Amino acid sequence: MAKGKKVTVIGTGNFGSTVAFIMAMNGTCHNVVLRGRNYDVAKGKALDMSQAANAARQHTIVKAAKSAEDMADSDVVVITAGAPRTPGMSRDDLLTKNAQIVKNYAREIKEHAPNAVVVVVSNPLDVMTYVVLKETGFPRERVLGMAGILDAARMAHFIYEKLEYGAGQIRATVMGGHGDTMVPLPKFTTVAGVPIEDLLDSEEIGDIVKKTRNGGAQIVNLLGNGSAYYAPAKSTTVMVDAILKDTNQIHSCAIMLKDDYGYSDIVSGVPVMIGAGGAEQVIMMALKPLQQRRFKDSVASVQEMVDKLYELKFFDD
Ligand code: 2OP
Repeated sequence: MAKGKKVTVIGTGNFGSTVAFIMAMNGTCHNVVLRGRNYDVAKGKALDMSQAANAARQHTIVKAAKSAEDMADSDVVVITAGAPRTPGMSRDDLLTKNAQIVKNYAREIKEHAPNAVVVVVSNPLDVMTYVVLKETGFPRERVLGMAGILDAARMAHFIYEKLEYGAGQIRATVMGGHGDTMVPLPKFTTVAGVPIEDLLDSEEIGDIVKKTRNGGAQIVNLLGNGSAYYAPAKSTTVMVDAILKDTNQIHSCAIMLKDDYGYSDIVSGVPVMIGAGGAEQVIMMALKPLQQRRFKDSVASVQEMVDKLYELKFFDD
């Protein structure tokens, strides 16, 4: 039998499960491996999804990982593991707790799936992407954070709410870190090619920018016991598809910057061209001075958290 593509999803909470489920429903790859802390739960979910794939007439088989070795030969590994944001939880609480969890999984990936492209979705996203880069030592092309696609989808939704038309035709652009300082870019946002600045006034656009930045927190507050997962999971599978199908399409993703947009050795969201090798090229946009300042602030907020990890002697080197 042909080997087929393999994707490992680490974390079997709502986010990881939904990523695996979307892939099973779409027949994204031949094998999906679910790696969680509780093997029985992972196995139960894997069986349920494999059976759903049969109902959907898809060839995808979902299996639970007994150990890290089951990640071997993965083309892509998605890391969703970590505590979700809950109301009242400080960013720092989440930072140190999740950095440790992600570090352990990064080491497993380095050992058992050394050729995989890693898609990181644990929060705080940009810092966790940095942790995976440092711990795996993989080239930056192969360690990507998922956030820009999600934040752009949220922005598109809020534009739709104002316009009440154009759903599915809105192409929004969001750069920077996946946090309060993210940089929605109305100037690079259109509805079927029509600039939103021709359709909405500056107050309305300002409101959309605010809602986009607050999009994740809004859902955290409504759910009361966890964070969003449908849009985050779908956004993740968009990246996995682009990698497995080698589409060479452009998506905004978190990546280690290397003289890109004026920064190096820090992770932030920028448009990249995604192919089989991961983020094969960073795409440069001509930013206006205000956009540059906002991007600078966003990079600085990620740098602050990375510095905190260095202060805590989190990295071994
Ligand atoms: C969000 O923004 C979970 O980071 C994700 O909802």
